[in-house]
Amino acid sequence: MPGIVVVGSQWGDEGKGKVVDLLSERVDVVARYQGGNNAGHTVMFEDKQFILHLIPSGIFWKGKLTVLGNGVVVDPQALLDEIAELRRQGVYVGENLKVSDEANLIMPYHKAFDKLRENLKGAGKIGTTGRGIGPAYEDKMGREGLRFCEFRAGNARALRERLGSILEEKNVLLRSHFRSDAPLFDLNQILDQYAALCEQVQPHLCDSSAALNDALDAGKTVLFEGAQGTHLDVDHGTYPFVTSSNTTAGGACTGCGVGPTKIARVIGITKAYTTRVGEGPFPTELRDDPIGRHLQARGQEVGATTGRVRRCGWFDAVVVREAVRLSGMTGLAMMKLDVLDELDTLKIAVAYRDREGHTHESMPHWIGTAGGITPVYEEWPGWRRSIRGITEYAKLPQAAIAYLDRIAELTRVPIGIVSTGPRREETILLDRGL
Ligand code: GDP
Ligand code: IMO
Ligand code: MG
Repeated sequence: MPGIVVVGSQWGDEGKGKVVDLLSERVDVVARYQGGNNAGHTVMFEDKQFILHLIPSGIFWKGKLTVLGNGVVVDPQALLDEIAELRRQGVYVGENLKVSDEANLIMPYHKAFDKLRENLKGAGKIGTTGRGIGPAYEDKMGREGLRFCEFRAGNARALRERLGSILEEKNVLLRSHFRSDAPLFDLNQILDQYAALCEQVQPHLCDSSAALNDALDAGKTVLFEGAQGTHLDVDHGTYPFVTSSNTTAGGACTGCGVGPTKIARVIGITKAYTTRVGEGPFPTELRDDPIGRHLQARGQEVGATTGRVRRCGWFDAVVVREAVRLSGMTGLAMMKLDVLDELDTLKIAVAYRDREGHTHESMPHWIGTAGGITPVYEEWPGWRRSIRGITEYAKLPQAAIAYLDRIAELTRVPIGIVSTGPRREETILLDRGL
């Protein structure tokens, strides 16, 4: 049986946690392939709410294996805190959680530099989550990262030498570029701290590529859980206002050590409107607008990781159509349709116009740095009644069905899931494109 990838099609927070939890019942393994604890995935069932930052949203189902792939950057303290919090809430975490020993570690200097750099940038900041994600991936690509396997290998001398030489450079950068009076990063202290943390993670460590390929070869189904969203992808997103990993479906292969021949389907998770946290372009944003405020309040659009208020706007078909292309999506999950219940008229962006009046059917690559884009809208009538909790497609109001049909037409993929509330059971499953 195949691999299925779940990818956010906008700028994150589309409802990936809910869909991955929901689909976990049907699969054997759930694996995260990129990002770190910048993610915040919400899962709600039986009046309980969980927010996961690192651990895959399949953890709530008995008998399922969850895996953090090599492409994830792991803050070991954050991982241990999350395990402890889940256990406190009665969720079993043991041999059902595996962590790649090739995963790069988020170190104290990564978190410090993330925050210091943002402060220094002032108005030009990215609005990161401050979890050290960018600096950790920089070091990974710059071949200056540390991985779980180095702590596991037991060669203390080699580890000390490598971290020692890394810290020499970090301390020069710290004092000369950021803060001349900052306390230096201390080799012994960091070594002791990380040796103790990695020791605690040790029972979960594995070769994630071997584990996932063994599962696939044995006929099991693996769900690859993306974090962030397509337009936060470091290659294809609204650069430089992006995260530092490949959020698109290809990231599942490199981030888990699985070949593309193993991926059968890609499900795009899409909100019925659009949100964004942090800085960066957002053509359909309803800034300082009563409808934007309505979406924010009704959708409870507050960041699950940093608690920041999310920027809100109309559904943007250019954004989602591009996401479908970039990840080869086979179907969409349309989330939070109930949030639109009270609106008289809905707008959908179908194209963009630039400063010179040229029309764009896809997102210009300079949008992150040059701006100057205005959406071209279509208007659709709202349904003006509650659809909260509806589980059958035929029970949706005609106006809601027309809105969904138009989105499927514009994005050129079928809608296989319609979500009518945050809980697991508040879902219409259509089994199209899933
Ligand atoms: P993720 O990062 O993609 O997993 O999404 P988040 O968990 O950060 O944000 C999605 C939010 O929307 C969470 O608070 C969910 O509980 C909530 N949510 C998901 N689906 C629905 C839905 O259909 N209706 C409503 N009202 N809320 C939903
Ligand atoms: P989930 O998985 C929404 C945003 C940050 C910032 C940019 C870079 O819950 O959808 P980073 O800390 O990654 O270097 O920040 O990316 N960002 C997210 N926005 N949802 C997320 O994750 C995000 N993870 C990062 O706000 O604009
Ligand atoms: Mg989120």
